[in-house]
Amino acid sequence: MDKIRVRGGRRLSGVLQVSGAKNAVLPAMAAALLTPEPVILENSPQVRDVATMIRVLQRMGAAPARRDGARLELSVPAITSAEAPYDLVKTMRASVLVLGPLLARCGAARVSLPGGCAIGERPVNLHIEALRRLGARIEVEHGYIVAEGPRLTGAEIAFESKTVTGTENLMMAATRARGRTVLRNVAQEPEIEDLAELLTKMGARIEGAGSDTIVVDGVEALHGAEHTVIPDRIEAGTFIMAAAITRGDVRVERCRPEHLAAVLEKLRSVGVRMEVGQGTVQVMPDGPLSPGNLVTLPFPGFPTDLQAQYLAMATQAQGNSLITESIFENRFMHVGELRRMGARVDIDGHFAVVHGPTPLTGAQVMATDLRASACLIVAGLVAEGETVIDRAYHIDRGYERIEEKLQKVGADIERIH
Ligand code: EPZ
Repeated sequence: MDKIRVRGGRRLSGVLQVSGAKNAVLPAMAAALLTPEPVILENSPQVRDVATMIRVLQRMGAAPARRDGARLELSVPAITSAEAPYDLVKTMRASVLVLGPLLARCGAARVSLPGGCAIGERPVNLHIEALRRLGARIEVEHGYIVAEGPRLTGAEIAFESKTVTGTENLMMAATRARGRTVLRNVAQEPEIEDLAELLTKMGARIEGAGSDTIVVDGVEALHGAEHTVIPDRIEAGTFIMAAAITRGDVRVERCRPEHLAAVLEKLRSVGVRMEVGQGTVQVMPDGPLSPGNLVTLPFPGFPTDLQAQYLAMATQAQGNSLITESIFENRFMHVGELRRMGARVDIDGHFAVVHGPTPLTGAQVMATDLRASACLIVAGLVAEGETVIDRAYHIDRGYERIEEKLQKVGADIERIH
């Protein structure tokens, strides 16, 4: 089990390059199930979740994936097994993204229920109810979603609440349903638009991705395509906050500032000085950070995946910040670890009050989920002394060689095998 060791006190300075978005490449990989032809994804990040998704697809009949740096070539000439087994799904909930494509491609799917994770119970009821509206017969038994629907039929579906992977599953299932599907109250994350762009290149007919209503007209078949995955807005936001907390002077490159509007707005309001360029955000050293309340929301609001990193930064603000986590029911697991570093945080359900400023000291801490690990690295960058983060595999799920990238901008950080 790798650990990551950070020694605090260094100001970051230099250039950080953002990789492709994990949450865009995973649905794009699942889309490869919709056609026997090759799908080529450029700018795909080399992170553990991509390797896991390759294994999931290969269990279904995908040819060996061809990787050349950030270029990933997938093809599923035939579906040899429409099953996503528990041993794989339990390591990555996003495996549930194969459900829609399998139904569309071969009219059947047996996908393990993802089960909960550190940040919440994470049900998939909205996916299942919506797929039933397309005519799929779905039973949930023995921990598996067993679905069959030889020919899905388009329908009008209104999601009860916004679900990112639910929207992605339904968009992919509807591409080959008979007739028109109208999806209302869908998620509007940039990753949804990116998937719609890939599906359109594959021959699907989709309108409205990025808005709250998506219309899909089913087609007979989809073909292969090449697509460049969007940059990871969560990695970019993590780097911006790492620079800000150390009063650093860092340019974050190869990102899409327009995907971070709510984040940049919030950071400016608490005193982070930034300049937005073409695909870049320049963070400049400035005075002390002010406190700022935060509410996480579906896009275009402030993303829940940056809440932990913001909370770490708020420990250094000159005053108290109220943070409201409105998406997940248990996404303050990082607070227990931050308290061990000296943070003073009061939690009550979905609310956390962060008292600042509190000097942080290095400690042995444990990562509980992907973004909590990122928050502990951000905290470790300013903590006095040494922080050792256990279970570094969490961070490797969604960040490509994070310690190498941060070393390049002066962080005293290394991986301990
Ligand atoms: C996606 O998860 C992301 N993962 C998550 O990123 C992200 O935190 C989340 O969206 C919210 O933005 C991927 O894209 C692979 P949801 P997803 O369905 O789709 C409830 C990371 O760190 N819900 O939008 O699983 C759910 O419990 C990960 O990269 C239902 O009740 O999230 C949650 O409270 C963590 N029933 C809320 O909706 C359902 O059927 C939003 O979940 C589906 C969801």
